[in-house]
Amino acid sequence: MASIQNHNIVSSHNMQTISNIADIRNIIKAERQKGKTIGLVPTMGNLHAGHISLVAQMQQHADIVITSIFVNPLQFSPNEDFDSYPKTLKADQEKLEAAGNHYIFAPSAAEIYPEGSASKTLVSVAALDGILCGKSRPTHLTGVATVVTKLFNIIAPDHAVFGLKDYQQLMVIKQMAIDLCMPINVIGAPIVRDEDGLALSSRNSYLTAEQKQIAPRLNQILNYVKQAILAGEENFRELEKQTMQIIEESGFKPDYFEIRTQNTLKTATIADHKLTIFVAASLGKTRLIDNVRFATDEKNN
Ligand code: PAJ
Repeated sequence: MASIQNHNIVSSHNMQTISNIADIRNIIKAERQKGKTIGLVPTMGNLHAGHISLVAQMQQHADIVITSIFVNPLQFSPNEDFDSYPKTLKADQEKLEAAGNHYIFAPSAAEIYPEGSASKTLVSVAALDGILCGKSRPTHLTGVATVVTKLFNIIAPDHAVFGLKDYQQLMVIKQMAIDLCMPINVIGAPIVRDEDGLALSSRNSYLTAEQKQIAPRLNQILNYVKQAILAGEENFRELEKQTMQIIEESGFKPDYFEIRTQNTLKTATIADHKLTIFVAASLGKTRLIDNVRFATDEKNN
């Protein structure tokens, strides 16, 4: 009985999954003719509550919410987890349907890269590429900017939302939209965390039980350093150096721990008041990133 009822509920929403460019363009054209605004939520699938929060956020901005699911080969380097990246389309469809998402755009690699993923055209936000994740993953952000440009050109949304968890990625997309005159409102959405503070990520499913115990330390360390700065710690470079060591002693392989300005991503000093602290560190083969943003000239942080 319950399963029949569930089935009826699912089919009554009738959320469609579209896999080719021509079809999604026709659907969007029809929605536009009805006067609807369009919001895009780009994802690589294996959806968790962080992704679903982006859908909820987009429902505040746009009439029609389109979530794309595409594991973009261009943003993975050869030694990374492209082949093992979890693919869970059916579960993703159920979660999106329950969240009130309107359409899924889930193209094949051949649909997005008909000439193969050695794309002849690349979009690179060079000024933001050589730091943080761009340093250890030199082709990653270009791969992201290129596929997001394609998605923007396919969907032509009014709004697109990205999580603050991938803060550098959000800044790259915002800058790209400005520099390339893309008429799209790029929205940043808050980081969704587990109760223990660990930022939700599709890659958390790679963690062993033991690693899951260690992982929340990353957010604790960010908050500890934030408090130290708010309490008057002035030597940011020394703080970064010492914290790298603490991260290592906690069982991670640290990639970076950096205190930067929030809007320009420049290396910050005490003269700066809007700060973001960025961290990337690996547990075994799993690379985790997190950040915390705060202002030093405001109370109640
Ligand atoms: P993916 O890692 O699937 O993330 C999709 C979106 O969800 C991104 O905007 C990301 O910042 C956001 N997100 C992930 N975890 C989150 C969390 N815990 N809280 C809030 N938002 C979270 O990021 C990508 O895919 C890709 O690079 C993509 C932009 C789709 C281009 O391929």
